[in-house]
Amino acid sequence: MPLDNTEFLTRQKHVLQSMQPNSIAIVPASSLVTRSSDTEYPFRQDSYFHYLCGFPEPDAWLLLTNHQRYSNGMGILFCLDKDPTMEIWHGRRIGPKQAKGDYGVDLTFAVDELEQRLEDIIDGHQHLYFAAGHNRHADEVVSTALQSLRNAPKQSKQAPASSIDLRLILDEMRLIKSAAEIDLMRRAAAISTQAHIRATKFATSAKNEYHLEAEIHHEFAMQGAKYPAYGTIVGAGDNSCILHYTENNQELKDGDLVLIDAGCEWQGYASDITRTFPVSGQFSVAQKQLYQLVLDAQLAAFEVIKPNNTIAQASETAIAVITQGLLELGILQGELADNIERLTYREFYMHGLSHWLGLDVHDVGHYKVDGQDRPLLAGMVLTVEPGIYIAPDADVESKWRGIGIRIEDNLLITSNGFENLTEAAPKTIDAIEALMKKSH
Ligand code: GLY
Ligand code: MN
Ligand code: MN
Repeated sequence: MPLDNTEFLTRQKHVLQSMQPNSIAIVPASSLVTRSSDTEYPFRQDSYFHYLCGFPEPDAWLLLTNHQRYSNGMGILFCLDKDPTMEIWHGRRIGPKQAKGDYGVDLTFAVDELEQRLEDIIDGHQHLYFAAGHNRHADEVVSTALQSLRNAPKQSKQAPASSIDLRLILDEMRLIKSAAEIDLMRRAAAISTQAHIRATKFATSAKNEYHLEAEIHHEFAMQGAKYPAYGTIVGAGDNSCILHYTENNQELKDGDLVLIDAGCEWQGYASDITRTFPVSGQFSVAQKQLYQLVLDAQLAAFEVIKPNNTIAQASETAIAVITQGLLELGILQGELADNIERLTYREFYMHGLSHWLGLDVHDVGHYKVDGQDRPLLAGMVLTVEPGIYIAPDADVESKWRGIGIRIEDNLLITSNGFENLTEAAPKTIDAIEALMKKSH
C-alpha cells in the first residue's frame, strides 16, 4: 500500500510546529534531467519533497507557513498545470485543481505562477526554512524572490530576517521510520532478497556479469519495483575488489567469486543487499577462510546492534574480528592492538560498516550528536556491511589475491535489538552452496 495522505499531513504538521513562529518552509520537487537529445533519465522525485507530500510529478513546490495569519498553518502546492498537448506527448498531469483534493494541501497554483507569487507569499515571514545548496534552480528562484523583497522597502515589503536550514528538522524526522515506512522498507528488502536468491541460482549457468545483473533487475521488475535504489554492482574475480564497480560486463569464470550489491527502490524507499558467492557453486579453501571471516565480523557486529549502543561500537567490533582473522591467516603480521592502532586492516577493509537507509540509500541523519556518536534508537534502519578486498597486486600470498567479499544486510532497530529485514537471503557457506547445488 502506498503511504496514506494522513501520514504526509502529519509530517507537514510536525514541520509547522517545529519551526519558529512566523516561518515559511520552501521545498522544491526534482526536475527531469536530460540524458541525450530530447530524452530524459527516468524521473525520481526529490526525497525531501516526497517525504512531505508524496506528490509524484516534477517541477512542483511545497510551501508550509505557520504565519500568524494562518492559525493552523497552511500548505501551498505549486505544480504543472493541465495541458492537453503536453499530456499527449509527455503523460498525464494531476494539475492544481485535482491536487488540492488529492494531496490535502490548503492552496494550489500552477507552477507558472510561482515566480510572480513567491515574493508576496514570503513577504512578512520572519524566518525562511530552506535547504540551500540542495537544488541549484531552487536556490536561484528563492534568492531572486528574497532580493526583490529586500529591494522593496518602500512598498513596506519585508524579507525574512533569518534563513534556517530546513534539513535540521527533516533529517531528524527521516531518521526514525514510522510503521508505514517500515512496511515499505520490509517490502523493498523482501523483493531484493528474492532477486539475490534468483541471481545466485542462475550463477552456474550465467556467462557474464551482465547476465546476473539482468536476473536481479528481472526480479525487481516482476515484483513491480521499477528501479534499483542505486547502480547495481556485479563484480566477479578481481572486479569484486572495486567497491562501486558498475561496468558489469566481464566474463564469469569458474574459480572466481562474484560480489553482487543490489537493492530495489519500493515506493521511494531503498534496500541495499550484498552477497558474495562462487561462480562454480563451491568455495575454494582460501575463499572459504576469508568469507567466514567477513561473516564472523558481521555476526559479531550484530551482537552490538541494539538501542543505546552506537554504530561506532559495532564498527570497532567488526574491525577487531577482521584484524584478528587477517593475523591468523598470515595476511597481516604482528600484534592485534598494534595493528588496530596503525589501521593496517584498512588496506583490506577500507569502508565504513554502516549507513542509514531510507528514502536515500545513503540516507540522511547525522552520525554524531554534539560531537558524540549517536545512540541507536528503535525505528532507525541501517546497513551492516563488513568486507575484505585483497587487491590483485597485494603483497600477500598469491592464493588470496583478487578475492573481494562483502556481506550486507538491512537492520531495523527495535525496542530491544533489531530485526534483520534481509535475513532470508542465504549467506552461510553451507546455505549458499546448497542453494547453488539445487539449481544445477
Ligand atoms: N550499495 C552502496 C552501499 O553499499 O553503500
Ligand atoms: Mn550499503
Ligand atoms: Mn550496498
